[in-house]
Amino acid sequence: MEELPPVPARGLPLSSRAPGKCIVFGEHAVVHGAPELVFAIDLYTQVFVRTDARTRLNADEEATARNAYFRTALEGLWAGGPSIDVRAISRIPRAAGLGSSAAFSAAMAVALGAATGGIDRPTLAQRSFEIERGAQGVGSAGDTSAVVGGGFLAINGGSGPLLWTVRADDRVWEVRRVADPGWVWVVAHSGIPRATGDAVRAVGRRLSAPDGPELLEEFRRVAVEGIRAVGAGERARVAELIERNQELLREVGVSHPRLEALLEAARPAAEAAKLTGAGAGGSIVALPTPGKEAELVRRLARAGGLPFVVRPSTEGAALVEP
Ligand code: PMV
Repeated sequence: MEELPPVPARGLPLSSRAPGKCIVFGEHAVVHGAPELVFAIDLYTQVFVRTDARTRLNADEEATARNAYFRTALEGLWAGGPSIDVRAISRIPRAAGLGSSAAFSAAMAVALGAATGGIDRPTLAQRSFEIERGAQGVGSAGDTSAVVGGGFLAINGGSGPLLWTVRADDRVWEVRRVADPGWVWVVAHSGIPRATGDAVRAVGRRLSAPDGPELLEEFRRVAVEGIRAVGAGERARVAELIERNQELLREVGVSHPRLEALLEAARPAAEAAKLTGAGAGGSIVALPTPGKEAELVRRLARAGGLPFVVRPSTEGAALVEP
């Protein structure tokens, strides 16, 4: 099992950061126990934590009331601790399906865990999940595991060694490493914000319809084969499966006209594209046609998206040394 280097007991101040994430296969279905493939991306959220006379987040003294992630982080990892001043900066667009809440949760878990003597990576994955789930009320361990682990990860799938297991009352998620095929990916934010919890609940209702089990089985089949194909570097097969996964996401009602417009704009310069994350707004991910990466970015920007070329980040959530 992968371990964090030992962290000496240390006090505050300290700083930590965690990457965002991009889901390639299996969002939504993963909430119901199906496999997912996700990778950490090279956009980060960084937090700076120090003791102070009052508890604040980015100067907001009402943050524990206003920000559920901040509140659940403090309740879970800082109960009885002194007041802290937290500053958070992020390059991950918010409510975009790119893991900003998971990154904030994991960065807080690293900092508060380190301040109280250190925390190993499996525990960090569990704590980060509890912060995010506590704030959102629903969801899987996929996002928080991705930003804790870095690189490509299979949730409830794959054949690599088990990195860790995350548990909720009703479910268990097993996390395994998948080899990075070394491809360039492009994501584009539609600019339409949405609430993950609402989308997850709507899909849950859709999957409880009579054809729900059949749909979930198809999500599972696509993700199992997608995890294998990414690990084996089979690009054409991955592209087919990305398109199939998008059809399923449409079918469960989480596409959006703005996302469809971006997918359409991407088509001439991409081998495949789908929404990524909760959908109903948020972002798409595309596998560019080799040599057409810049054209793809231009097309997505012209269609009104905010595109990023993303490289998988091998760095999981960690302390940032001064
Ligand atoms: O849109 P995001 O970044 O919140 O990702 C949500 C992914 C879901 O599978 C829809 C929910 C989850 O918790 O796994």
